[in-house]
Amino acid sequence: MAKDFSTMEDSNRSSNLSIHDVSDPARRSLLRGGLGTLASGLLAPIGGLTALGLLQGCATAGGSPGATAVAPTGPLLGFKAIPAVATDTLVVPDGYVAQVIAAWGEAIGVVGNMPAFKADGSNTAAEQAVQMGMHHDGIHYYPLGSGGAASSRGLLAMNHEYTDDGLLHADGMKTWSAEKVRKAQAAHGMAVIEVERQGAVWQMVRPSRYARRFTAYTPFAVTGPAAGHALMKTAADPAGRSVLGTLNNCASGMTPWGTYLSGEENFAFYFDGGDNPDAHQKRWGLRKTASYRWPEHDERFDARKHPNEFNRFGWVVEIDPMDPTSTPVKRTALGRAAHEGAWIAVTKDGRAVVYSGEDARFEYIYKFVSRDKIAAAGGGKTAAQANSQLLDHGTLYVARFDADGSGRWLPLLHGQGPLTVANGFADQGEIVIKSRQASDLLGATKMDRPEWLAIDQKAGEVYCTLTNNSSRGMKDMPGVDAANPRANNVMGNIIRWKEIGDFDSPSMRWDHLVLAGDPANARPDAKGNVKGDSFACPDGLVLDARGVLWIQTDMHATQMYKGELERIGNNQMLACDRATGEVRRFLTGPVNCEITGVTLTPDLRTMFINVQHPGETPSDRSDPADPSKFSNWPDFKPGGRPRSATVVIRRKDGGVIGT
Ligand code: FEO
Ligand code: CA
Ligand code: CA
Repeated sequence: MAKDFSTMEDSNRSSNLSIHDVSDPARRSLLRGGLGTLASGLLAPIGGLTALGLLQGCATAGGSPGATAVAPTGPLLGFKAIPAVATDTLVVPDGYVAQVIAAWGEAIGVVGNMPAFKADGSNTAAEQAVQMGMHHDGIHYYPLGSGGAASSRGLLAMNHEYTDDGLLHADGMKTWSAEKVRKAQAAHGMAVIEVERQGAVWQMVRPSRYARRFTAYTPFAVTGPAAGHALMKTAADPAGRSVLGTLNNCASGMTPWGTYLSGEENFAFYFDGGDNPDAHQKRWGLRKTASYRWPEHDERFDARKHPNEFNRFGWVVEIDPMDPTSTPVKRTALGRAAHEGAWIAVTKDGRAVVYSGEDARFEYIYKFVSRDKIAAAGGGKTAAQANSQLLDHGTLYVARFDADGSGRWLPLLHGQGPLTVANGFADQGEIVIKSRQASDLLGATKMDRPEWLAIDQKAGEVYCTLTNNSSRGMKDMPGVDAANPRANNVMGNIIRWKEIGDFDSPSMRWDHLVLAGDPANARPDAKGNVKGDSFACPDGLVLDARGVLWIQTDMHATQMYKGELERIGNNQMLACDRATGEVRRFLTGPVNCEITGVTLTPDLRTMFINVQHPGETPSDRSDPADPSKFSNWPDFKPGGRPRSATVVIRRKDGGVIGT
């Protein structure tokens, strides 16, 4: 979700020391010294160990299942960069073609229930529940079949982050009703669809037995320390173990056992808090009135009447796209946060390490280390079934980035340090429900909106986009620190770290891969140090099996085409060669869209990305009387509405993407 700087969440008033209190100005200037300097920083000896991963350059990494069969040949990046543009079209490099599928409102392919999209917004709530949701976000491809067939038929699991109710309903929000709330809830969540390639063209397979929607009222099981906790019990669910719905789902993560992870990001915006939210609710950004107006017709989103319902969102959710009968789950052991998403590394002895960030200003980065090893399929169980409880037992940590380039993972364990009954934490369940407050007490580092993460399994490195934070260094707000080194951080950074030893290590070394920006800017802090094509507000981040780091951007409509972002054009996707540091622009989206989510087939010859909210308005809600004021992508029909959609990218010669 793009955010207007003036309205996004900013709830951390904790007094935990930010490392700016001990930050080293010399290191800040070192950080501005360019990628070569940065690399040498991370390459410094680490506790007797040298970070060899960077010396090896584009080490093969995880990213798409099965993709490791593709051996790198020739230069990592072989396409011709495209310019920044501000036109209402999607642009890919010479020699590439882009095709739109699965736009908002397309029937997903439920047998006997495939309502056609109505371009005037008049589909019903029941129809929307079996159609593609709004505002596509993270996406992942799951092959069906093996060998060559795996790259020509598969499932796409994807998120539908939020709604623009000005577009969703025929008359927008002019009138407001229970049916409109239900339709908005049906347009949230996730979708699983089947797709296949015939020749060079991909299409949805409809009907498909896999076709499925998860909405803001689909029942989810709750597992982990918060399951059944007193703070999770409601009148409708006195056991505290089953929640209706998921919402504000952003990034996608794929597990080694074949399931899909998604984060519930800005859940606070869906609840009415009234005039007197308590300290806990304030710390989680609860406001007087929900911006989505659901409480007017769905009382459970009124936190005055149902305060614990608020605690039942903000979790990482796990679904099994391959099993249409499986129950989706909220994994509370991973901690509650305005999660962007969650990504998994594997320790040498086979345990899962789940990294996640919290996309809010001055919030934190987490990792969870599973107690048990990842189990293989067998005994009549699929891998997903064999690991159905893996993410329920383990240790959660929060990150502290120190000024000398070292970092610590601080355990969020009940009874340890300040995380005691005396300090208000009754048990581990309360620790995970109140991860922010627990992290405040531990002195975790307040970050500039951690969004997507990408993991280089082989090199032991983790990358995280810090999308922006214009409040950094402003009056009464936390100042700069080594990890968040720019005041009024309009441009964003990508931070990276290498665990000392294995992924379960309590310590790491960190630096910045790149500070985004435009060297033509007058303000020094807005110039950045990009080697190649300028960009701002990095958000989506995926490492493909050849080692290309794909960077996607999310500038908001209120920021674009002016001021410091004047020359950067529409939101875009760029490819980074980490060995050389080069960043090269690969794709630009239509006007006021966000580019988010990228996944490739195992042969790396088809790429799927999502275009979210083309035509987004500065006010965040479109005018139903003029819905195509800013964009009419992708249909360009007179009187039509812009639609989020999946875009399939192929090379005209069928070659590997990016080469
Ligand atoms: Fe929903 Fe942080 O993007
Ligand atoms: Ca974003
Ligand atoms: Ca995002």
